[in-house]
Amino acid sequence: MEDPEVIPMFSSPLFNVQVEEDTDELNESNSYYIGSSQQGNVNKTDYSFRILDRHPRIKNILLSYWKRVNSEYLFNECEHIITTSWITKTEKSEYSQVHWHKNSYFSAVYYHGEYDDKCGDIMFQSPLEKFNDFYTPSSRQNNIFNSDVWGIKPKKNKLIFFPSYVSHQISGHDSDLTRYSLAFNICPVGKYGLGDSFIDTNWYGEKPNIKENLIEEKIESNTGWSFDMLSGNKNTNNMYPGDHQ
Ligand SMILES: [Fe+2]
Repeated sequence: MEDPEVIPMFSSPLFNVQVEEDTDELNESNSYYIGSSQQGNVNKTDYSFRILDRHPRIKNILLSYWKRVNSEYLFNECEHIITTSWITKTEKSEYSQVHWHKNSYFSAVYYHGEYDDKCGDIMFQSPLEKFNDFYTPSSRQNNIFNSDVWGIKPKKNKLIFFPSYVSHQISGHDSDLTRYSLAFNICPVGKYGLGDSFIDTNWYGEKPNIKENLIEEKIESNTGWSFDMLSGNKNTNNMYPGDHQ
């Protein structure tokens, strides 16, 4: 039998790149951090969730790496922005809870500090695991087809991107080095989608006054057909937005 073609259907791709530019100025922001033990229950006063706004040059560098990944592998045609960004600090014997990122399309972690072999890995859990009722661990070899968890070792200037729905955590950190990492979220902006899944994120800035905002727009789709958006015409629609008459 010939070797079968193996297709990793519906993958959750993790992109791993090495940043070449100097980003050491991020170390100045290491005092604005979230402790690993505080993730999900942040109570510090000296943290920031927009840390990259203090480093616009680095923000542009990191976003450029994402744009390259997107253009070469995902082919999203819309623009993306970095939304929230924060630094996580992990001391010896600390770890973080399993979590994932909401209100985000892709997430990223950038390792801007110093690391050794005892530093905690970032561990990812398969989002498909809950669909499989059989527990059949491999005694021979773990690979991309049979693994439910996947670990990535931190390394200076390593930048990883992963789908925000993938659960992850920092595993046990046994190093005497303080483990710093910069995390950030990425969202699409502008106009994207089709039909009733079309969105223009500029709508988010509109005032919630329905009568003032009633507009008729023709949205041309890639398939050539068009439709009315938010016509508000009571004579032609049984249902229309927000009128109490
Ligand atoms: Fe996270």
